[in-house]
Amino acid sequence: MSETIYSRKFAAGEEIFRIGDQGRNAYFIEKGRVEITNPRQGEDLVLATLGVGEIFGEMSMIDDAPRSATVRALEDTEVIIIQRSRIMQPVISADPMMNLILRVVLARFRGAQHKLAGLSTEPGEIDRSLGEIRDLAIKRINFEKDMRRGLELGQFEMHYQPIVALDGRTIAGFEALMRWQKDDGDYISPGEFIPLAEQTGLIIELGRRALEDGLRDQVRLAKTYKSVYPHQDVPFMSINVSGMQLTDLAEIDLMAGLIEESGANPADVKLEITETLLVENFDHAIEALQKLKSLGVLIAIDDFGTGYSSLSYLHQFPLDTLKIDRAFVVNMHESDNSRRIVRSIVQLALSLNMSIVAEGIEEKEQLSTLHALGSHYGQGYLMSKPLPFDDALALIKSKPIW
Ligand code: CMP
Ligand code: MG
Repeated sequence: MSETIYSRKFAAGEEIFRIGDQGRNAYFIEKGRVEITNPRQGEDLVLATLGVGEIFGEMSMIDDAPRSATVRALEDTEVIIIQRSRIMQPVISADPMMNLILRVVLARFRGAQHKLAGLSTEPGEIDRSLGEIRDLAIKRINFEKDMRRGLELGQFEMHYQPIVALDGRTIAGFEALMRWQKDDGDYISPGEFIPLAEQTGLIIELGRRALEDGLRDQVRLAKTYKSVYPHQDVPFMSINVSGMQLTDLAEIDLMAGLIEESGANPADVKLEITETLLVENFDHAIEALQKLKSLGVLIAIDDFGTGYSSLSYLHQFPLDTLKIDRAFVVNMHESDNSRRIVRSIVQLALSLNMSIVAEGIEEKEQLSTLHALGSHYGQGYLMSKPLPFDDALALIKSKPIW
């Protein structure tokens, strides 16, 4: 993630931009002073004088409309350029409602300014220009409402995808994956609802539900497995935990309670956490992971290779398993680079004494290559898609070998 910060200097008297100009950046004053003016009846009306620590140009940055005023340096001035793409894109994609509120406030301010200047603002003009933004925000709110309702109605259900040992090609574990079946019977994929659940905080509740159901079903699957394969280790259950669940240490205590009460052997429970958690806050991540480890569970780092974690501190986390992201596996046979990356990830994990699960296996060739490279486990559509509980149970009984 590159972050470009430009700064610029303007000499006393120099114009920074003029009313009506196109421009998408805002400016943060580091040194000096600027004057904001608006020509009115042939004269420059001074709207404001801004100094160190203040911001200008934010209006065009927000709504991409022409500059509302002329800005001139009153003395030698230095500014930091705040790029629209860096500020606004994240706001828009993270929360359309926040975007709408920003735009409404700005539109009302512009409306008030027009009125003061004696210009007409056609009624409805603001509403029209905000139409698309409003639609998106409404869509988002409805989606959130549906999700809360779906939770109440029990529309979220865990499916289980087998994780296969690459030497014997038998079931070694399962990953619990959440499915949302809406009223109309359609399935919404986690890729669609998880990001929203994260933004709205619903992820906490979904995460608890996943843990509870996953633990309960691990106990049931293990029992069946034991009766079919009395001499083999029972399958572990991999359960995804979101970074948000781990930001609150009290939530970890709650998770500990669920694990204890479930009757599952903690050593057969694996919690999958994403790489971004490790990247975002080292100290907190260490504490959270140690707390989880003390429950006796295993910890896997999920989607490895996509989260920009620094390899230099990977060994400081108590990790048992590394999951290679599907992106590398899918491209392995087309791209030498992907294969090389897989090879080095495997070597890294082996040298850190971690077990390895390769995700997204779709072809036999990938399976054998991954085995040859040293990956211990594999997961993917080649073996099985995620299955409803009863089908996972039936799969165990059918004694599959891939
Ligand atoms: P923008 O419209 O992008 O460019 C001109 C800038 O002048 C505007 O953003 C604000 O930063 C600033 N500006 C406009 N009106 C006022 C005002 N009434 N008081 C202070 N600053 C203003
Ligand atoms: Mg996962």
